[in-house]
Amino acid sequence: MEIDVNGVRHTVDAEPERTLLTLLRDELDLTGTKYGCGEGQCGACTVLIDGAPARSCQTRAGAMGGHKITTIEGLAQHDALTHEPILHPVQEAFLDAESMQCGYCTPGMIMSGVALLNKNLNPDDAAIMQAMQGNVCRCGTYPRIVAAVRRAAKYMPRVVA
Ligand code: FES
Ligand code: FES
Repeated sequence: MEIDVNGVRHTVDAEPERTLLTLLRDELDLTGTKYGCGEGQCGACTVLIDGAPARSCQTRAGAMGGHKITTIEGLAQHDALTHEPILHPVQEAFLDAESMQCGYCTPGMIMSGVALLNKNLNPDDAAIMQAMQGNVCRCGTYPRIVAAVRRAAKYMPRVVA
């Protein structure tokens, strides 16, 4: 089957029971998406499917034909001249707010943050916490994660404009 990941079409072998997470990590070598609980509880494996956040560990790869998948690797752009990466505002804000300790939850957190800001450019803390409630951070950096999403909301219009 064909699958669209980060704007690139791939022909992949999607066995019926294979998860999208396994396909991304093991076949496409996109290891930024993390395996945490494997049971839909931690959010480490969050990707965007047609712009909406989804648990890739709970998503059958075989059902992804015709959908657009975005992973953490697909967020940054590249400068046309220098080819230097230009981080997505949410990535930039996580760095600026020093929102990661071990960093294992960070890709999933960022994907949930991107999904939120794509819908709501001015979320209050309650909206941020609600959007991120399915993402677990074992290091407990929640206040800095919320601060990063708040900061990213300020960066977003500057980039989109
Ligand atoms: S690994 Fe998918 S939700 Fe935890
Ligand atoms: S920074 Fe370690 S799990 Fe979140």
